[in-house]
Amino acid sequence: MSVDPQELRSVAARLGAGVSVVTVGWRGSVHAATVSTLQVLSQEPPLLGVTLHVDSRIAEAIEDTSTWSVSVLADDQGPLAEWLASPGRPVVGQLDRVPSGPARESSGRWLAGAAAWFDCRTVQRHLVGDHVLVVGDVLVAVEGDPTAGALIHLRGRTRGVR
Ligand SMILES: Cc1cc2nc3c(=O)[nH]c(=O)nc-3n(C[C@H](O)[C@H](O)[C@H](O)COP(=O)(O)O)c2cc1C
Repeated sequence: MSVDPQELRSVAARLGAGVSVVTVGWRGSVHAATVSTLQVLSQEPPLLGVTLHVDSRIAEAIEDTSTWSVSVLADDQGPLAEWLASPGRPVVGQLDRVPSGPARESSGRWLAGAAAWFDCRTVQRHLVGDHVLVVGDVLVAVEGDPTAGALIHLRGRTRGVR
């Protein structure tokens, strides 16, 4: 017998995880979503993985587009993480009030003030229960301001760490 999903969610909330935003060019706009499942899966070759709920628009957008970006959020970017996780926000215009610049080698955008950025090209997709694990070849990896801290998701809320 498996553990109850609600119980799993509650126990897993004790795993502190760094918070990032995935952006991808999609249907003439750029879609963005907050994630806490980003992992460096391999250094050689350089591969990142992120798991996205199968019903999310970001999973659909990544399926439709070969390249995407990750902005690793800094300690003071909690409100941004909240906004880009809010259900029903419009795809068009969701980044209008979020300072950002074009990614170097992807269809997404780099959010200003982030601690680091990656551009990736999807090389594998695996359906894992109710999520899809997207594996990206890392095309570009850039560090942000060396004094920036991290945004951590722990016990259901985000907190900045320096
Ligand atoms: C701190 C935090 C971490 C999250 N991590 C993930 C994640 O790793 N994968 C995921 O599918 N959704 C994650 N979410 C939820 C998505 O951000 C949210 O469902 C978002 O609206 C994406 O769905 P959409 O593309 O349909 O808008 C997270 C939300 C928060 C607040």
